[in-house]
Amino acid sequence: MHMKKIIFGNLKSNKSSNQMKKWFVDFKDAIAKDSKKSNSEEKLFSNIEAVLAPAYPFLHLVTENSSETGLVLGTQDISSYPSGSYTGAISTQNLAGLDVKYTLVGHSERRKYFSETNEVVAKKITQALSAEIIPIVCVDEKSIDDLAVKVSAKDMAHCMVAYEPSSAIGSGKNAALSDVTSFREKVKTLFGDIPYLYGGSVNEKSVAEYLLVTDGVIIGGASLDAKQFVSLLKSAQGENPVGL
Ligand code: PGA
Repeated sequence: MHMKKIIFGNLKSNKSSNQMKKWFVDFKDAIAKDSKKSNSEEKLFSNIEAVLAPAYPFLHLVTENSSETGLVLGTQDISSYPSGSYTGAISTQNLAGLDVKYTLVGHSERRKYFSETNEVVAKKITQALSAEIIPIVCVDEKSIDDLAVKVSAKDMAHCMVAYEPSSAIGSGKNAALSDVTSFREKVKTLFGDIPYLYGGSVNEKSVAEYLLVTDGVIIGGASLDAKQFVSLLKSAQGENPVGL
């Protein structure tokens, strides 16, 4: 499949309004430093797709800055319900007009802290697809077989899957490349040849090697500092020749 490699920055529940504004200032500075040419962001992202998923109150900042930054908008989660009386939930209707391209679904932190099951994940996938938002479904060894039972093959064919072993998330203990490769085979067996991402303690040093065996990566900790995120994007870009 010929697609740009996806670098998905997941800011999780971090940052105040002022810190977010600073993040964008730093990001633009870092891009500007990268090249003297005026079309620097275009050069930086010519063969990767850089996605940012901030907390909900800051989604509009990604949209408003997209022409200057080249960043595509993602969300960290989506409601399992349609629009209506579901206090506190963010529905696809709430997101309409913001240009959300991707949403994470079933992140291990959702499963752990919000008791999210694969039944809920299945509903979220249906909601996202109905709004033409691409679900990036996060799974690990423990959840993948049940996921295959709970989500229809038809829906999964339109999703991307991210291998997110919980031991690797936020721990500095990134998974071995061999594990990422063998999990990909499992995903392929269950769901077919759909885009496959990895997330868990990826940084600017390790990103290039993960991109050799995946279609993209999910970046938590290393996206919090915009300058660090830009150098990670540069590493990703360098190891991903055009046309790969
Ligand atoms: P991390 O998070 O990069 O901080 O390990 C990754 C993730 O949650 O997907």
